Amino acid sequence: MRGGNLLVRNGLIVTSEAMFKADVKVVDGKIVSIGEGLSNEGVDEVIDAKGMLVLPGVVDEHVHMREPGLEFKDDFTHGTKAAALGGVTTVIEQPNTLPPVEDSNTLLAKAKLLEGKAFVDFALYGVLYDSNVHNFEDMISSGAVGFKVFLGPTTGNIPPPSTGSLYHILSLSAKHNVTIAFHAEDNDLVNYFTNKVRSEGRVDAKAHEDARPPICEELAVIKLATIAKRTGGHAHILHLSSKEAVEVIKEGKVRGVKLTGETCPHYLLLSNEDYVKYGTLMKVNPPIRGLTHQQALWEGIKEGVIETIGSDHAPHTVEEKKKSVWEASSGFIGVQTLLPLTLDAALKGKLQLTLLPKLLSENPAKLFKLWPRKGVINVGSDGDLVIVDPNEEFTITQEWLISKNPVTPFIGWKVRGRIKHTILRGVPIVRDGILQNVSQGSWLKAIF
Ligand code: DOR
Ligand code: ZN
Repeated sequence: MRGGNLLVRNGLIVTSEAMFKADVKVVDGKIVSIGEGLSNEGVDEVIDAKGMLVLPGVVDEHVHMREPGLEFKDDFTHGTKAAALGGVTTVIEQPNTLPPVEDSNTLLAKAKLLEGKAFVDFALYGVLYDSNVHNFEDMISSGAVGFKVFLGPTTGNIPPPSTGSLYHILSLSAKHNVTIAFHAEDNDLVNYFTNKVRSEGRVDAKAHEDARPPICEELAVIKLATIAKRTGGHAHILHLSSKEAVEVIKEGKVRGVKLTGETCPHYLLLSNEDYVKYGTLMKVNPPIRGLTHQQALWEGIKEGVIETIGSDHAPHTVEEKKKSVWEASSGFIGVQTLLPLTLDAALKGKLQLTLLPKLLSENPAKLFKLWPRKGVINVGSDGDLVIVDPNEEFTITQEWLISKNPVTPFIGWKVRGRIKHTILRGVPIVRDGILQNVSQGSWLKAIF
């Protein structure tokens, strides 16, 4: 694996513990020293970061880059270019591609296919459902960093596992110390409410929210919390959207259950009041809800109940997004806007700045066994850095978004802070906001 030799001078380093002025020196792709007045001996390039913040490169634990099989929506080249421009140096790619990543052969084939195309480093999830749980160990030995289990209907139509399989999966999680990430919406309840709301003849965009009310998420999380408690397995609940689910996780944590949670910028920044404006563009699963839920998610972050923010980058074509409420695809792009939106929130005082490296880099890297190589600015870690100017304003535009289908509700949003440079293992892959033509991302296996 290639690595660069670089000195980043005079920046304000932001870690999960502190903010301090220092230089960071990277040799052969690894951080070799952090301190004031470091010499430039042995480096090929010096970046002056005076007046700028230096954060660990973002580890986005939740991206659907669509390759292989769904390239009409987007592909890995576009997705990882978008990541680089958004300050993301590692992506953890979801398994609902075609074929799904359901055994070690599909995992290895996917890794091989993506490796030549990656602009940032990447790791892979495997998927688990009723008939492939026996592949758990094989996929881990082949390099999966964790698994995804879909309890409710989603893109790819992966069947939800039985309660028995969930027990089996979380027992294996305990045995092998592997994090299982869940799409936690109860399938039966989603079907029940969807039929009910559809039979009322609703066609407004908000009908999607009512078709998947908070109890769908709450019940799924209660079930997982109970099984995690009894098995000792680790359930990581993705894209938390409701107050009720946050409460269940909070209670579980108090009782020592291995329960962690992720939310996404769209649940923190949009609410059901926005359906009128954005329509099906903001259709996503679980749905975006009311302001009380949004508030509970912010509280959950501040209290440490929610430990990560992922993007749930889920591209679809413009046509797929424009369909009627019941036909439109769920999800939208997000990897490029994850840091700009959360950085903006932090710079405007909605979130402590030192929480950003924790939520966006360190915790995801720890959950998926990439830490301490990834996720932190520490001697010995990879030289993955993102350098931002906190004083510049920046508008998210369609032109800036690198995607085959650059559609997201966040187009036109003004944010504070501009991503200047993204550094991957000591090599600038974005310089002064401009993507460099170097595809040198590598496949990362878990460090168990
Ligand atoms: O809305 C969603 N879309 N939620 C998910 O969890 C999956 C995603 C997708 O893959 O399209
Ligand atoms: Zn997702």
